[in-house]
Amino acid sequence: MSECIKVLLSEKDVDARISELGRQISEDYAGRQVHLICVLKGGSFFMCELAKRITVPVSLDFMSVSSYGGNTESSGEILIKKDLDESIAGKDVLVVEDIVDSGRTLSCLLKLLLERKPSSLRLCTLLDKPERRVTDVNVDYTGFRIPDTFVVGYGLDYDQKYRNLPYIGVVEFND
Ligand code: IMP
Ligand code: MG
Repeated sequence: MSECIKVLLSEKDVDARISELGRQISEDYAGRQVHLICVLKGGSFFMCELAKRITVPVSLDFMSVSSYGGNTESSGEILIKKDLDESIAGKDVLVVEDIVDSGRTLSCLLKLLLERKPSSLRLCTLLDKPERRVTDVNVDYTGFRIPDTFVVGYGLDYDQKYRNLPYIGVVEFND
């Protein structure tokens, strides 16, 4: 079986939307420093592009989590594979994710981060698949709402491939 990628959101569209998000975030955090937390690996491409467009002071940290037990469906319990380097107590934290799907991973992660007493905690996702949601997650900034389809590129992978595509594409399988 071979696969091909059909463009869903072009590089130009994604870049333009990230610039808008950067402007919005810079306005909302005016006079403050924003502490971005990138959820690895998927959020890394988006976070770099977003950070470059934020005009208030930015600090960064990285976290890697995986869903316990799940194969294709996340389970709702998370395993921390790499924790943050620094405390988030008293910081204005903005979690940067590639995609919110069922919402299980994010709702679990946000609960865990809230216990660490940040001054504020918000979520920014490049993509959102609202049709797939099973758990309530409050998304503060969304790049694009997309239909229930498996996408790759801009950090998102299929079998660890395609993260480096500069656009968002849909995987199509041919036999
Ligand atoms: P959930 O919201 O807990 O179901 O899981 C979200 C995670 O599943 C994301 O952070 C991605 O790593 C992965 N994921 C969900 N949908 C897609 C997709 O369309 N392409 C690639 N990865 C996806
Ligand atoms: Mg992710």
